[in-house]
Amino acid sequence: MKVRKYFALLTVAILTAMAACQSPTKKDDQSIPNRKWWKEAVVYQIYPRSFKDSNGDGVGDLKGIISKLDYIKSLGVDVIWLNPIYASPNHDNGYDISDYRKIMKEFGTMADFDSLLNGMHRRGLKLVLDLVVNHTSSDHEWFKQSRSSRTNPYRHFYHWWPAEKGKPAKRYSYFDVDNNAWKYDSTTNAYYLHYFARSQPDLNWENPEVRKKIYSMMRYWFDKGIDGFRMDVIPFISKDTTFPPLPKKYHGNFLHYYANGPHLHQYLHEMNQKVLSHYDIMTVAEGAGVTSDEAMNFVDPKRQELNMLYNFEVMGLGLKGGEYRDLDSNGVSLVQFKKIYTKWDSVYGERGWGTIFLGNHDMPRMVTRWGNDSPEYRELSSKMLTTFLLTMHGTPYYYFGDELGMDNIKFDSISDYRDIETLHIYEHIKETGGDLQRFLNNEKMIARDNGRTPFQWDTTANAGFTSGTPWIKVNPNYKTVNEAVEEKDPNSTLNYFRKMVQFRKNNLIMVYGKYELLDQDNPNVYAYTRELNGRKMLILLNFTDHQADAHLPVNMKNAKQLIGNYSKTAEKENPLSLRPYEAKVYQL
Ligand code: NOJ
Repeated sequence: MKVRKYFALLTVAILTAMAACQSPTKKDDQSIPNRKWWKEAVVYQIYPRSFKDSNGDGVGDLKGIISKLDYIKSLGVDVIWLNPIYASPNHDNGYDISDYRKIMKEFGTMADFDSLLNGMHRRGLKLVLDLVVNHTSSDHEWFKQSRSSRTNPYRHFYHWWPAEKGKPAKRYSYFDVDNNAWKYDSTTNAYYLHYFARSQPDLNWENPEVRKKIYSMMRYWFDKGIDGFRMDVIPFISKDTTFPPLPKKYHGNFLHYYANGPHLHQYLHEMNQKVLSHYDIMTVAEGAGVTSDEAMNFVDPKRQELNMLYNFEVMGLGLKGGEYRDLDSNGVSLVQFKKIYTKWDSVYGERGWGTIFLGNHDMPRMVTRWGNDSPEYRELSSKMLTTFLLTMHGTPYYYFGDELGMDNIKFDSISDYRDIETLHIYEHIKETGGDLQRFLNNEKMIARDNGRTPFQWDTTANAGFTSGTPWIKVNPNYKTVNEAVEEKDPNSTLNYFRKMVQFRKNNLIMVYGKYELLDQDNPNVYAYTRELNGRKMLILLNFTDHQADAHLPVNMKNAKQLIGNYSKTAEKENPLSLRPYEAKVYQL
């Protein structure tokens, strides 16, 4: 008996020691202030239309997602963010909502939603929905009422400008063929405001009745048990309803004006007090138009507004923009890229919390945009970017399919595009006699549809996404780039993503450690450290297709490599020398 007890104790001691080695930061856990589940989470974004179709209509749906919950769980992620799943005529794939309390027919029913939420919670996964409240669809009952007469009780749910006052001051629209955010409506001889498409009229947040309805709708979803909201263009909600002329400096670049309405922060605080603060949930603002100086106004805990904001500053790198959405022939400057991330990191030095992402449903595929999608480097550079996302300070938002290394489809013909944005710009260029080919060439890099093609499950027809005709073409490379094939390969991008997620989970230093940029002017290598309670890790990322060195004032003698994206070590191992797209993490 005694001997057995001795061995039992010994086993416990060995297991405890092993556990301590695997998660060396566990001892630090208590000393980290303000820990929150949403700071430690990895968010996985799903574009529901393109994830998995269960009924053969060519459109992904909720039952499709339910059938893949075990796969999602196997990734190690904690939270799923779903793009809008509400009733919608789908002019902007769900960002035009006709009923906030109903599920889009193509996606399924409320019963499907309930079982999805249930299935997620049973697996320990949390659900974040999209909150689209700057605008509704023009098919929403509120708008139908509002446009019907000037005296309708819903009239002031939207912004109207009576035509007898003359033309309203210029406002630009994102998805309008004429770039005009005012649309004349003859029923009441007035113009209504739409920052996006004509079928997406802007709600009037200055009307307390609108806010009341929105808060009640938010409570409806929280009471169902959802775990948070990603808030679509939330900085745009408040407007100066006198609609003065747009100041000169905002012509051509009006985003910042739209994101600074007079009562924006008053409304976000009110939303927090009336709704958000009553639940254990997370919120993230789509920070379109928000500068780094303004970010804290959204996420400083003292202000009681939102938890996180994602910024788009990096997303403009390598682009000249303009009507044709031209690319910069100099490509992306890594020095600038590092500068921007470093600046944003410093915003949250004391308080607040950041986010990290490189792709989403409004962006091209991350490997095409920031890595290298040639057959030689697609996998390596995908893994390098994954290493970046999972070793940075801030909650990572990881876009579905990036774990497989999915890349841009690069359509040749306008007839393959489905996105309102591309189609409307094309139409505008055509109407004004512009160079359509120039625009189509740029769209191969920039168009949002590149990130919206169906998830590639296996080598069967349509990549196993649907038994019908997919709503948008499947990337022909699905025969090699797909989940089934990558499952079997321990070195696949998919399995590397899983490893990196676990690495972050096992090392709280990756979540809470202080970030410091090294070798800032190096045009090829991104090098930084993360440091927490006396532990330090060094991350080295080669963003080029050739060998590159980091120049660091760091003693690497006792440095130990913990993880990296090459399966074999280099012949002459020099820790500061990196092979093409190499990523390495060292314990210093
Ligand atoms: C931002 C969303 O991410 C995008 O997809 C949408 O088109 C616009 N907001 C309008 O809702």
